[in-house]
Amino acid sequence: EKGGYDYFMLKEIAEQPKAVADTLLGRIDGSGSLTLDEVRIPANVLREVDKVVIVACGTAFHAGLIAKYAIEHWTRVPCEVELASEFRYRDPIMDQQTLVVAISQSGETMDTLMALRHAREQGAKVLAICNTNGSTIPRESDAVLYTHAGPEVAVASTKAFLTQLVACYLVALYLGQVRGTKYADEIRAVVRDLASISDAVDQVLETMEPVRRLARSLAEKNTVLFLGRHVGYPVALEGALKLKELAYMHAEGFAAGELKHGPIALIEDDLPVVVVVPSPRGRSVLHDKIVSNIQEIRARGARTIVVAEEGDEAVVPYADHLIRIPVTPTLLQPLVATVPLQVFACELATARGNEVDQPRNLAKSVTVE
Ligand code: F6R
Repeated sequence: EKGGYDYFMLKEIAEQPKAVADTLLGRIDGSGSLTLDEVRIPANVLREVDKVVIVACGTAFHAGLIAKYAIEHWTRVPCEVELASEFRYRDPIMDQQTLVVAISQSGETMDTLMALRHAREQGAKVLAICNTNGSTIPRESDAVLYTHAGPEVAVASTKAFLTQLVACYLVALYLGQVRGTKYADEIRAVVRDLASISDAVDQVLETMEPVRRLARSLAEKNTVLFLGRHVGYPVALEGALKLKELAYMHAEGFAAGELKHGPIALIEDDLPVVVVVPSPRGRSVLHDKIVSNIQEIRARGARTIVVAEEGDEAVVPYADHLIRIPVTPTLLQPLVATVPLQVFACELATARGNEVDQPRNLAKSVTVE
């Protein structure tokens, strides 16, 4: 049932191009428009939405953090992202014009479920992004957009995460399409780019051998740091989470702009630091800033592991290890940038003799607080 792979996690990492394609199937077309009939919240209600609040836990929360960049950019509607476990015990401000998006692979996470109940009590509309048909969270929501990752068995979420991202982009683009923004042309172009994104994920998977080798060489380390900015920041958080849960290593993700506000003090000789580099096209200011961050940490002894777009030559002099990812639109980069970090964590866990599919102390579905 592992289809020739040693672990479910490896199988599920390999299934990502298909999971992404399946989640897009029937929802986008070549002309650049979207059809999301299953989102049963009427267009006039979506046009009235004045705030989006995303609630989720763990890896799904990271998908939500990335969604914020997409939603605010394409729709100009303010978007908050909150850990479901915090949200439910606050007194959040919501009303009928709030759209709450609950993201959950299992559809059974207790904190996310309680957060959505809390939101509905206040009159907010709830849209679930979920991978499990008929589970509790979609049943209790106003509408659901299913991810089509297929069953995810390994405790660490991989293919479900990529499909949550796809669903988040679809929601952001759809909201933009329904509401009409100045980004209509860009929205159409991105929808067309999405059509080939599963090939890009496939391309990343084909070049993972050096990442595995690198991971094995770091098996004795105690700490790995991850840096990113813009949508690369949640990718850094996700890379760190995967490493914690699988390799049981101290791993932390930081926004690269925060380095000087504290984290740079952690840099010491030969400390591995993974840096997710934004595209040199588009928001090139961010690219240049992160290149100087890489220089700074390397000057202080860090071993730099740089994840950068094909053709980005500026990073080459400062990268002790260079992981190439295909060129994508800026906001879609997490779909390709996360994959090497999953492979990295999986291989490190294996090298450290850990149980990859069943990390200690963790359960696949967290139905208690
Ligand atoms: C990490 C992981 C967890 C889940 C989290 C939410 O790899 O799998 O952090 O993402 O427990 O689970 P769902 O998405 O089922 O609500």
